[in-house]
Amino acid sequence: MKRILVVNGPNLNLLGKREPHIYGSKTLAELMDAIRVKAGELKVQVSFFQGNGDGEIIDFLQKEAPDAAGIIINPGALSHYSLALFDCLQALALPTVEVHLSNIHAREEFRSKSVTARAARGVITGLGFTGYLLAMEFIAEQSE
Ligand code: DQA
Repeated sequence: MKRILVVNGPNLNLLGKREPHIYGSKTLAELMDAIRVKAGELKVQVSFFQGNGDGEIIDFLQKEAPDAAGIIINPGALSHYSLALFDCLQALALPTVEVHLSNIHAREEFRSKSVTARAARGVITGLGFTGYLLAMEFIAEQSE
């Protein structure tokens, strides 16, 4: 069975408590539940990781990518500056979808630039949890 890596970056462990008017009132655990349900429907496996620094995220991706079908990643603020994470995603060369809960183009100017997005096949921004579920459909299709 194909396995999808679902990675969330800094501060996404605070979902539910963190600026709920922007990120919603549901927690990371609830997001993972919704992803598990979708994985069941799509008949794929998922491996989750949340990290507050790019080093730990890169370590996870390097370790897990060799037998994964794709990556769904919300790099959080790392999107805006982590060239190390960009290099990692580029090097691993798996089908990757970058997801943002909020619409990064409708917020502060600094958020509209993502340096990691260049390593992704596509970006889904502003659709909340649904963005992750749509990304799963895309990755599942790629790996058929
Ligand atoms: C975010 C948007 C980023 O700008 C921010 O730093 C986050 C969350 C989102 O999901 O909307 O941490 O990636």
